[in-house]
Amino acid sequence: MKILCVADQRSPLVYSTGIKERFKDVDLVLGAGDLPMDYYGYIVSSLNKRLYFVFGNHNLKHYDRLARKSQAFSFDPESVNQHSFGSILATGRVIRDKKTGLIIVGMGGSIDYNHGVNQYTDSQMYLKLFRLIPRLLWNKLIHGRYMDIFLTHSPPRGLNDREDPCHRGFKSFVWFLDRFKPKYMLHGHIHLYERNIPREIQYKNTKIINVFDYYVLEPEL
Ligand SMILES: [Fe+2]
Ligand SMILES: [Fe+2]
Repeated sequence: MKILCVADQRSPLVYSTGIKERFKDVDLVLGAGDLPMDYYGYIVSSLNKRLYFVFGNHNLKHYDRLARKSQAFSFDPESVNQHSFGSILATGRVIRDKKTGLIIVGMGGSIDYNHGVNQYTDSQMYLKLFRLIPRLLWNKLIHGRYMDIFLTHSPPRGLNDREDPCHRGFKSFVWFLDRFKPKYMLHGHIHLYERNIPREIQYKNTKIINVFDYYVLEPEL
């Protein structure tokens, strides 16, 4: 099984006429945030594969439009089960992908550094994660595992993150990994401008991968 993962910027290798040839054996696409919706649309229409995504802290035009449509004073992206451009919003959801059998848990947003859209404190993030627990326990009971892939925008605190206020990860994510042991955590948000910076790190049961630009995952499950 192959999963094409994208985050943070349009990759010239993905956003090209060669996409079909280069990624023809991909089974699924995952978007880890900060990408424009039309990029997802391009990938979905080119590869004709399902794409699950979370929103980051940038490129939120589409997110804003959803917020205005909802006419709510404060907009909660989790309340939207959004299908647009053929892409499926995974934030705040526990998804069992029928075709691959993978259990994917999505959680978008970044740490609150200037009170902008889709930024959260760690306490807020704990609450969001707590809401997923019943479904995760159900999965453990029925499928023998809580989840396979934790798809986020932000990294966990101290793992693949940075020290500046904008790029600090969530402590709550570390707790979540400790407790629910996904095989993989895929995130973006941390831009990698040098090729030799490692993008993978093993943390207990979880391989944490920064999928900045693009990354092809062949999960061993
Ligand atoms: Fe980004
Ligand atoms: Fe970001």
